[in-house]
Amino acid sequence: MAPRLTPRLQTVARRVPAGSRLADVGTDHAYLPAWLLETGAIPFAVCTDLRPGPLARARETVERRGVADRVSLRLCDGLSGVEAGEVDCVAIAGMGGETILGILAAAPWVREKTCVVQPMSSLADLRGGLAPLGLHIARETLAQEGETLYVVMDLAPGAEGPLTAAQLQVGRAENHRGDPLWPRYLQQEFDRARRALAGLERSQKPEDEARGQALRNALAGLREMMEGI
Ligand SMILES: C[S@@+](CC[C@H](N)C(=O)[O-])C[C@H]1O[C@@H](n2cnc3c(N)ncnc32)[C@H](O)[C@@H]1O
Repeated sequence: MAPRLTPRLQTVARRVPAGSRLADVGTDHAYLPAWLLETGAIPFAVCTDLRPGPLARARETVERRGVADRVSLRLCDGLSGVEAGEVDCVAIAGMGGETILGILAAAPWVREKTCVVQPMSSLADLRGGLAPLGLHIARETLAQEGETLYVVMDLAPGAEGPLTAAQLQVGRAENHRGDPLWPRYLQQEFDRARRALAGLERSQKPEDEARGQALRNALAGLREMMEGI
């Protein structure tokens, strides 16, 4: 039996359509594609990584798990070593939001693919940076590991209008509909914004005034979302 994935990678795996040829960008141990191949969910995967060490770990995993014949390993930056016609779905997990944006911007063909991203940081920058790439978030799914919540985003073609300060922080409420972890995520982000504002209110720097106002707007929007649950 295939070893279990962590809840974070399991949530990414569930967003990969059955039968799709997958590009797993920043694959490291290749746990995601190995599991999808082993369980028969997908027929083929291209695994990319920027560094030889992680790619060697990926090779070790796919050989040990008997799926190496259905994997192509590529040492490259993002999707630069992948042809658009080779894959149907792109997964980019476990990286900062700005790195993810850079990888998407360098491969405009991702707009024609199913695209699943799981940022570890800079989520607001990622949410706000998709429109210029002609992309938007169609759905956000939360995964919990211990006390930590991770966000998995399904991207879709087409730019949306600007997001409010609260939507930049947590995404659109309608993209989280039915998610049992949504109230917890909202509370976590509300508390984070309140702590950040408390820190800024002690600051005397004039440039912190605009940031403080953005946080007040975010808190008002987050409060409305919490009332709407
Ligand atoms: C923290 S690991 C995430 C591994 C796996 N995707 C996961 O979610 O568990 C991040 C990996 O991304 C790779 N990476 C970082 N920037 C990259 C880029 N621009 N292109 C390809 N790989 C990259 C790193 O070398 C590292 O192996």
